[in-house]
Amino acid sequence: MNKTLTLIANNEQQTIDLAIQVSKYCYPGLVICLTGDLGAGKTTFVKGLAKGLDIKEKVLSPTFNILKCYFNKTLNLYHIDAYRLEDTNKDIGLEEYIDGDGVCAIEWPQYIEEYIPSHILTIELLSLPNNSRQITFTTNIEKLFIMFDNLTIRKDDD
Ligand SMILES: Nc1ncnc2c1ncn2[C@@H]1O[C@H](COP(=O)(O)OP(=O)(O)OP(=O)(O)O)[C@@H](O)[C@H]1O
Ligand SMILES: [Mg+2]
Repeated sequence: MNKTLTLIANNEQQTIDLAIQVSKYCYPGLVICLTGDLGAGKTTFVKGLAKGLDIKEKVLSPTFNILKCYFNKTLNLYHIDAYRLEDTNKDIGLEEYIDGDGVCAIEWPQYIEEYIPSHILTIELLSLPNNSRQITFTTNIEKLFIMFDNLTIRKDDD
């Protein structure tokens, strides 16, 4: 069974806050696929995950190195950006990070389909006018269903 939830983040801070909420449900081996156009906010969402996991290192887009690892006491975060793998050989050992001891967030997962497991959390970002983003969460991981009942847009000053 799939569960789906769509929320509207009105600004970057609300997107980051949603990611902080999601980070509290992350566990080793969880794969989060982030989809959406260039500039939709995928990397921004990963910044929020890192913040929620208490990672102090600055999260940068890993486009030019494909994988960035953030080792951390709470939970390691592996950030993959497969954008540059569209037309290349994908046999570069990403499975260690995808089925690993941390949470793995993947931008442009469609370019590394062969690595994507069957149970994932998908987060689709869509740009709307005025810096708003429609964010759709979908999962077939039953233990994440509770998260779907609890995610909310919190006002910026809450
Ligand atoms: N509500 C919002 N949520 C997320 N980002 C927002 C929002 N409003 C504005 N932004 C801006 O949109 C940009 C999103 O860039 P980001 O690098 O996160 O996109 P991306 O989806 O990772 O793109 P790419 O496919 O190029 O990696 C940032 O500059 C961010 O400040
Ligand atoms: Mg990005």
